[in-house]
Amino acid sequence: MTDTTRDILVTSALPYANGPIHIGHLVEYIQTDIWVRFQKLRGHRCIYVCADDAHGTPIMLKARQQGIEPEALIARMQEEHLRDFRAFGIDFDNYHTTHSDENRELASLIYTRLRDAGHIESRTIRQAWDEEHGMFLPDRFIRGECPRCGAADQYGDSCEACGATYTPAELKNAVSVLSGKAPVERESLHYFFRLGDFTDMLRRWTQDESRLQPAMARKLEEWFEAGLADWDISRDAPYFGFEIPDAPGKFFYVWLDAPIGYMASFRNLCARDETLDFDAFWGADSEAELYHFIGKDIVYFHALFWPAMLHGAGFRTPTAVHAHGFLTVDGQKMSKSRGTFIKAQTLAKHLPPEYLRYYFAARLGGGVEDLDLSFDDFIQRINSDLVGKLVNIASRCAGFMHKHFDGRLAAELPEPALFEEFAGEGHAIAEAYETREFSTAVRRIMALADRVNQYVDEHKPWVLARQPDTLGQVQAICTQGLNLFRVLALYLKPVMPELSQQAGAFLHDDLAHWDDAARPLLDHTIAPYQPLATRVERTAVDTLLGASREDLAATDSANVNREQTSVTDTAPAGEPIAGEIKFDDFARVDLRVARITHAEYVAEADKLLRLQLDLGGEQRTVLSGIRSAYEPAALEGRLTVMVANLAPRKMRFGTSEGMVLAAGPGGEDIFLLSPDDGAVPGMRVK
Ligand code: MSP
Ligand code: ZN
Repeated sequence: MTDTTRDILVTSALPYANGPIHIGHLVEYIQTDIWVRFQKLRGHRCIYVCADDAHGTPIMLKARQQGIEPEALIARMQEEHLRDFRAFGIDFDNYHTTHSDENRELASLIYTRLRDAGHIESRTIRQAWDEEHGMFLPDRFIRGECPRCGAADQYGDSCEACGATYTPAELKNAVSVLSGKAPVERESLHYFFRLGDFTDMLRRWTQDESRLQPAMARKLEEWFEAGLADWDISRDAPYFGFEIPDAPGKFFYVWLDAPIGYMASFRNLCARDETLDFDAFWGADSEAELYHFIGKDIVYFHALFWPAMLHGAGFRTPTAVHAHGFLTVDGQKMSKSRGTFIKAQTLAKHLPPEYLRYYFAARLGGGVEDLDLSFDDFIQRINSDLVGKLVNIASRCAGFMHKHFDGRLAAELPEPALFEEFAGEGHAIAEAYETREFSTAVRRIMALADRVNQYVDEHKPWVLARQPDTLGQVQAICTQGLNLFRVLALYLKPVMPELSQQAGAFLHDDLAHWDDAARPLLDHTIAPYQPLATRVERTAVDTLLGASREDLAATDSANVNREQTSVTDTAPAGEPIAGEIKFDDFARVDLRVARITHAEYVAEADKLLRLQLDLGGEQRTVLSGIRSAYEPAALEGRLTVMVANLAPRKMRFGTSEGMVLAAGPGGEDIFLLSPDDGAVPGMRVK
């Protein structure tokens, strides 16, 4: 039934070691884990490795801020990450760290081979330097005024207000996020990977239909058209990472050794498992399959740099890279103020973690579309599908079996054809899992669950059980029902391993192999029924959202996980308090309560929303750089606060007549101000 045994190595992206696992991450780890469990259930040798991504400036600074060594910080984070993954049933064959001997050796080896083949080049560049901290500043650690639109407090590489991209040197009145002082320019020797050398190879590689989803291949085509630029792979000390072998004081940029961490984790596993051969999986002529599951934000690294590095250093390239979209919650970016920036640990405290696996599976396809966690939909699917349909089959049949037949299943099925049909449906469900169309798999499983319930409803065992002469039929009907339930528990096992395991304990059957669905359990004793799943109440979700809101104070923002983002120990929330002003200065700013009557995207401006504001009689149009954090529809009707006497500003996309007030560093973390209940449009804020 199953095709011949395959050797498959699977990875998920390595989470940064300076922040907690949140439900956005879990989309990826759950998706990968389901796929791996499916392959294992089919009898393939499928190995799932991952690691913490432990290097880079943010991790170095965060450790400094806590007064500990980076090694201590990453060790603690690794434990926390593993605890969270375990809670969600994510079952790695190995979980390592990029700060390991294996990774240091492999990174050196790959770098040396690339260098010897002429793919590494060094040249001097000028870069912003923080004199007080004695270090070069990554672009994201510099802020100033946008050279194009003049918006204040923008990052060193792009403007959130108008979407312009530029170099830190072009920023006006730039300051270091670390010291609050103007950076100076300094020269430094940097090492570059000549990605352009691999243009032909990468074009062929990325356009091979089996490697990337069509949307990703199209995105890459744009990058090829723009030309593949050299990649800066070195960073100056102080840096937490690996020193470059022939360049003292220079370190590998975190993104160079991060994907090598996949190999290093596998090598670390090989040292413990002698049935595994490193070269059989990574050698240039390897016949094993290699898949990377990643978010769509890191495709450039996985579909360009990584295959080029591997190829240039004489290793095999990935069989395919599977990208997924981003998680939104109730239609919006995860947000701390709404309580939807939910840590894995917090969710696990308030809801059965497997329910999230079920929900994500029910919503995941093989594409790169974003995925929305709607809590109403979540409650509905758990209560009506999982509890109401699937688990219901077991609970309604089990009682009769124990009451009247000592838990003994009949010796034959009354309707073998129906059973055959369920077994046959396994092909389509397996195909859906294989192609990562998990929502299709779940939909088909639930359609079968409907059929079983219909079967039981039609045969009414509760009526037959009342008459001694029809009692015998009850055993047959429930044997049929429980056998169909067993097939479904097996099909659902990659998604809900714990529920399936409990179903197995109840059926006295280990549900160990996909093909076991083909054989019914007959003349077999089952255990008494214990509830396999219980309903979710809205109050549990509300408590979760409340707890997440409280978490905020203690947690860093989502962005702090990323290499590009700032962390600071010198100013509140990363920003020094501005110079003192007189009350009169403040009084000149006319702040008003405004109602957002209409909000829409601004075509071609990926940072902006166009807002129509009602000031209680007066209407204003404002272009606001909050698109990364808000959906237009969610803004309509709400109150906020605006600067009403700001000189109108002409922008490329129209004139902005004022400004709405928001806090936060940018990206997903923008928090629009709202007045308390009772305020009405036009009221002055003072
Ligand atoms: N450390 C890098 C990956 C290096 S891989 C050699 C990184 N880490 S991360 O912690 O920021 O993200 C880990 C994975 O989680 C990425 O694939 C990322 O796309 C994914 N997600 C992080 N937030 C997410 C959502 N909100 N939604 C879906 N996936 C998200 O990137
Ligand atoms: Zn700008």
